[in-house]
Amino acid sequence: MEVIRQIAAAKKLLREESSKGRSIAFVPTMGALHPGHRRLIEVAREKADLVVLSIFVNPTQFNDPEDLQNYPRDEEADLKMAEEAGVDMAFVPTVEEMYPPGFLTSANVARLSSKLEGASRPGHFRGVCTVVLKLLHIIRPDYMVLGLKDAQQFTILQHLLDDLCIDTELTGVPTVRERDGLAWSSRNVLLTKKQRRQALSMYRALKRTHFLVKKQGILHTGELLQAVRSVIQTSGAELDYAEIVSRVTLEPLDHVERGGTYVLLAVRVGKVRLIDNTRI
Ligand code: PAJ
Repeated sequence: MEVIRQIAAAKKLLREESSKGRSIAFVPTMGALHPGHRRLIEVAREKADLVVLSIFVNPTQFNDPEDLQNYPRDEEADLKMAEEAGVDMAFVPTVEEMYPPGFLTSANVARLSSKLEGASRPGHFRGVCTVVLKLLHIIRPDYMVLGLKDAQQFTILQHLLDDLCIDTELTGVPTVRERDGLAWSSRNVLLTKKQRRQALSMYRALKRTHFLVKKQGILHTGELLQAVRSVIQTSGAELDYAEIVSRVTLEPLDHVERGGTYVLLAVRVGKVRLIDNTRI
């Protein structure tokens, strides 16, 4: 596995590979790799000749300086896992490399970026879109593999690619969960035992909505959200938002449209903020 830190070197190597007709699949990450990321790498491995992983804790997508400072970082463990999972090139730039003095440009997908996560974390998706667009220009992948745990991010990045005619095909990978059901997240390592139990209420709440829709035929979103809120609040976790939205527009729905609906949750446990979702 090549570890590359300079944009120029990454471009040179990847253009050479492309000119030999090798296809490229790209997995963007912020490191602190876990089995969710590993699954993305496996899917990328199945798609293309060459798998490129980026590890970059992108400062422009953090609206909370404390969250950025506390974000877990372990480059050595990440590179080990990446190599074992079959990554060909790890692109690990510094902040100065990605955002040199004088950097002025940003990319934004209007409307979709200001709701849900965007409402709680102003500017977050502008940072995500800017860094991903820059990475796409550096790597020029045929495929990009993203997790559906970040459902809004997936929808927004799909929009960015479509709007700007970028010929990278997106693949969304279902959420990978720990044994107890908690969605793998780089932030899980920051949880105490008690907070972890509280965070698990998200999974219980999502399972409850499936039960209510599938077994009891309840489609009215007001009723479903009431059940979700009650599960979260009883656990002691602080609910940031719970919404039931269209998968395409991310607009709230009055009634579940089977196959086309996301239940999206964000909670805070102590200083840690976590998200989860399910598709109905
Ligand atoms: P990060 O949180 O490191 O996630 C990198 C990728 O892994 C994202 O596509 C995310 O959806 C996916 N992922 C995270 N947890 C997962 C899980 N439990 N199951 C499946 N996939 C999971 O998302 C980002 O980084 C950044 O915003 C980024 C796109 C890299 C831009 O900076």
